[in-house]
Amino acid sequence: MRISWWTSVIVWQFADFTLGDQVVLQDDRHQAARPHNVAIIGAGAAGASSAYHLAQYAAAAGIPVNITVFERNDYVGGRTTTVTAYNSSDHPIELGGSIFIEKNRILFEAAKAFNLTTSSASLSSRSSDIPGPALGIWDGQQFVVTQNNEGGWWDTAKLLYKYGLAPIRTLRLMRATTEKFFQMYDAPIFPFSSLTQAASDVGLLAVTSATGEQFLRESNIGYLFAREIIQASTRVNYAQNLDHIHALETIVCMAVEGAMAVEDGNWQIFDRMVEESNATLLLNTPVKSLDHDASSGIYTLHTGSDSTSNFSTLILAHPFQYSSLTSLPSTLHTPSKIDYVTLHVTLFTSPHLLSSRFFGLAPDKPAPHAVLTTLPEGEHAPDRKTVGTPGFYSVSLLRQVTNPATGAQEFAYKIFAPSPSTSLFIARLLGIQLSSSGELKPEDVTWLYRKEWQSYPYEVPRRQFEQINLGEGAWYTAGIEGFVSTMETSALMGKNVGRLVVDQWIAEEKRMRGDHEARSN
Ligand SMILES: Cc1cc2nc3c(=O)[nH]c(=O)nc-3n(C[C@H](O)[C@H](O)[C@H](O)COP(=O)(O)OP(=O)(O)OC[C@H]3O[C@@H](n4cnc5c(N)ncnc54)[C@H](O)[C@@H]3O)c2cc1C
Ligand SMILES: *[C@@H]1O[C@H](CO)[C@@H](O)[C@H](O)[C@H]1NC(C)=O
Ligand SMILES: *[C@@H]1O[C@H](CO)[C@@H](O)[C@H](O)[C@H]1NC(C)=O
Ligand SMILES: *[C@@H]1O[C@H](CO)[C@@H](O)[C@H](O)[C@H]1NC(C)=O
Ligand SMILES: *[C@@H]1O[C@H](CO)[C@@H](O)[C@H](O)[C@H]1NC(C)=O
Ligand SMILES: *[C@@H]1O[C@H](CO)[C@@H](O)[C@H](O)[C@H]1NC(C)=O
Repeated sequence: MRISWWTSVIVWQFADFTLGDQVVLQDDRHQAARPHNVAIIGAGAAGASSAYHLAQYAAAAGIPVNITVFERNDYVGGRTTTVTAYNSSDHPIELGGSIFIEKNRILFEAAKAFNLTTSSASLSSRSSDIPGPALGIWDGQQFVVTQNNEGGWWDTAKLLYKYGLAPIRTLRLMRATTEKFFQMYDAPIFPFSSLTQAASDVGLLAVTSATGEQFLRESNIGYLFAREIIQASTRVNYAQNLDHIHALETIVCMAVEGAMAVEDGNWQIFDRMVEESNATLLLNTPVKSLDHDASSGIYTLHTGSDSTSNFSTLILAHPFQYSSLTSLPSTLHTPSKIDYVTLHVTLFTSPHLLSSRFFGLAPDKPAPHAVLTTLPEGEHAPDRKTVGTPGFYSVSLLRQVTNPATGAQEFAYKIFAPSPSTSLFIARLLGIQLSSSGELKPEDVTWLYRKEWQSYPYEVPRRQFEQINLGEGAWYTAGIEGFVSTMETSALMGKNVGRLVVDQWIAEEKRMRGDHEARSN
């Protein structure tokens, strides 16, 4: 069950050309003189992967490129980034994208190629010596599931007893659905110039156009399992309930086998990708506007003080609505706005464990290390923003950490919630008192970091996805987020765009050579 159809790990992958034959330029003068100038806006998973794969494909085809990556932040990674507990570089913690799975081929292979150390991100591998169960699912009133350190979700007889065949049916459905998705990595589907067409070709439109609730019901997966297990998973991963999130994203939440993370931060994959592409990386450089000269096909990018011209290829590798760019030239299609989740992430360290009392447990019963939430029986989410009775999506003890100031053993926590976690909420969660001025005492919460993200789209059921090609030489990656929003899918779209761009160049070269030969004959 660990590795099914995908068995080989190909580290450097130049091999998936879709054009019949590969055109290698013979004319050295021509090659050296005129590299294709490519501008990539955004150095997250999508932009880094575009740069990396485009450079590889171009090198394999003998086409010179000059890539420039514009990034408004002072770091590479975008929504994949770390902050450091206690402000100490010894304790980086993921603030955004945290986990990928072994079958996430682009990330997995890149981590391997870059010799980055990955570690298992499964619950059972951490904190086994801390009192309390590893995982609990709380509905705001009681724990509907608790799971000890041993064993995963699939192999406990207890689950089968409680949920009947639902876990097995879910596993089968997950495998069948993810196999369809993985077809998008290879010919004849890859590269795809339309995501809507690709989704249709692999048979996933029926899945993206249903809600998780509908799809699970039609697949005979009982309501109890759906609500208690699957919805806890859609809430922790996407802050969305089954009545509203589409079924493909629901299934993605169940694909957790081989969960891993790059030690000290997943962003390192994207950092290395940019480096390996030989691109010029411009940090702290928001692109504020751009012009397109339709007659020459040249894009000019304005970054405030500066303008950079001569780009014949432009890749917008970020959700356009959150761009520093306010508008696109009229020669291009403007991506439509889609609604994103506002997610409040709170990270903190404390010597305290989660409070039994907060969760209504007896004082001698320790709380689980990770608490996922779901809606109580009979409660439905009237709209897609509903968090419901529990009031938050998840809180988890990430790991034990040593406070560098005191040498004391403490715990690092992460909360996902629809609103900022107040001091009072954190105090109740830990079973501690606020100071007389109503603040968390520094000995109770030794470090705290709050972040508001536009984390991912509300994954509403849909059968149409944003265009990839926005006009001549202009490409867009973030349409894939309405399909599935993960580091891997953004990287897949970046790779796909890289392939499409280089294929177009190869076709142009071929045409020019044809013209040339026709003339000389
Ligand atoms: C809290 C949280 C938890 C998550 N958990 C997971 C997880 O466990 N696993 C997983 O796979 N995914 C997870 N995700 C989702 C994942 O992080 C994203 O899907 C992925 O990182 C998106 O990558 P991207 O490159 O498409 O976009 P981004 O990472 O948003 O990158 C876009 C970049 O473009 C830059 N930019 C925008 N406009 C401009 C401009 N005009 N000029 C210059 N630069 C610009 C931005 O600064 C940004 O760096 C999580 C996300 C969040 C927020
Ligand atoms: C732009 O590119 C063309 C062709 O690559 C080149 O001839 C020209 O000199 C370049 N202009 C600038 C300003 O770099
Ligand atoms: C990047 O530059 C190095 C050194 O010039 C070169 O060896 C390598 O092939 C280049 N990589 C790509 C992908 O073009
Ligand atoms: C490569 O792109 C940079 C902009 O990042 C530009 O300054 C440089 O002139 C380009 N090089 C060539 C050979 O076109
Ligand atoms: C960490 O840095 C922040 C911002 O610079 C500061 O406000 C905070 O007091 C620091 N915390 C610790 C524990 O050093
Ligand atoms: C990969 O990392 C290991 C351990 O950090 C190191 O021993 C090895 O030399 C590295 N290999 C390469 C190819 O960088």
